[in-house]
Amino acid sequence: MGRAQPSESEEGPSGIMQSAAQPQMRAAVVVRYGSADVVHITDVARPTPRKDEVLVRVIAAAVTSADARIRAARFPKGFAPFARLIFGIRRPRRTVLGSCVSGVIEAVGANVTAFKPGDEVCGMTGIKMGAHAEFVAVSAARIVRKPSEVTHDQAAGVLFGGTTALFFLRDKASVGPGMSVLVNGASGAIGTNAVQLAKHFGATVTAVTSSANADLVTSLGADRLIDYNTVGLDGVTERFDVVLDTVGNMTIPAGRRLLTERGVLLLAVATPPETLRARGHVKAGTSPERATDFEFLLQLVADGALTVVLDQAVPLHDIADAHRRVDSGRKKGNIVVNP
Ligand SMILES: NC(=O)c1ccc[n+]([C@@H]2O[C@H](COP(=O)([O-])OP(=O)(O)OC[C@H]3O[C@@H](n4cnc5c(N)ncnc54)[C@H](OP(=O)(O)O)[C@@H]3O)[C@@H](O)[C@H]2O)c1
Repeated sequence: MGRAQPSESEEGPSGIMQSAAQPQMRAAVVVRYGSADVVHITDVARPTPRKDEVLVRVIAAAVTSADARIRAARFPKGFAPFARLIFGIRRPRRTVLGSCVSGVIEAVGANVTAFKPGDEVCGMTGIKMGAHAEFVAVSAARIVRKPSEVTHDQAAGVLFGGTTALFFLRDKASVGPGMSVLVNGASGAIGTNAVQLAKHFGATVTAVTSSANADLVTSLGADRLIDYNTVGLDGVTERFDVVLDTVGNMTIPAGRRLLTERGVLLLAVATPPETLRARGHVKAGTSPERATDFEFLLQLVADGALTVVLDQAVPLHDIADAHRRVDSGRKKGNIVVNP
């Protein structure tokens, strides 16, 4: 804990140049790569929204596998040099992590007409991050109104895994009625959304999970479970129209073996060689952050058709514990922090 003294023209948490006169806010700051212990709560300058941005008072922000990866510089095999160019070569370029936010608009930039102070909104801040703080400045194009039926915790929780599951299942594999889908890693942020979205689109879902999460995954609608500790992927004899790997332990040949003749293999985690080989019926890629997808997911949550699984909702000052939980690899669904 401590109080950072911003100097004239210091770069703020969202990358905006700040002046010493700006009001302060509490934020979870990561100034070097490392374990969860490197995350510190401190005071930093509150960002000022640019003309196309809004300033959101954060009510809930997700702590995701991406936040933990960036904090630890633990990038997928082979991606480290490229990732460090983006996120910072020696230390994190953005010192306040967090890209999924729900909260209330505090102020709007000069060009923003779609939102006004007091509106309840949620969205994703992209590579700019900055949501692990009391306030975050975010482009108005990256937020949507939060339906009143959806809590801030649910809204912040659903976006990361929900947009990724939607991108792979709907956009890359056109999952629809009558199709069979295998979800490897069904209890994580992507997996809990993927199981439910595949069912929503009319598919039959087989979920690969541990016995510890069997009840959870069944409650989300999975038709069949495979316990990875007893059967394992090698022991699976069925064939599927779609196989989604959210864990990163499935090679392309192993995934192909599970496909029907025209089946599609979706790799949410892929090495650079796998990404290069991902064509035809093998698909990889990075899910985009689209406002229309946020609205689609939020409406499902509002309608009771999509459950947001929350592993924990903790105060911002306990965010290091949230990072530890993500690092454990045992997180069920999503974790949010409340500033
Ligand atoms: N391509 C993209 O656009 C994109 C977007 C977002 C994330 N990602 C990547 O996708 C991966 C998953 O992200 P996430 O946020 O969903 O992860 P997560 O929530 O941290 O996943 C944790 C879950 O994985 C389960 N798990 C661990 N090992 C498993 C195994 N061998 N088999 C089955 N389940 C297993 C755990 O359940 P148990 O306790 O039962 O083991 C736990 O519930 C990350 O590597 C992330 O970087 C990619």
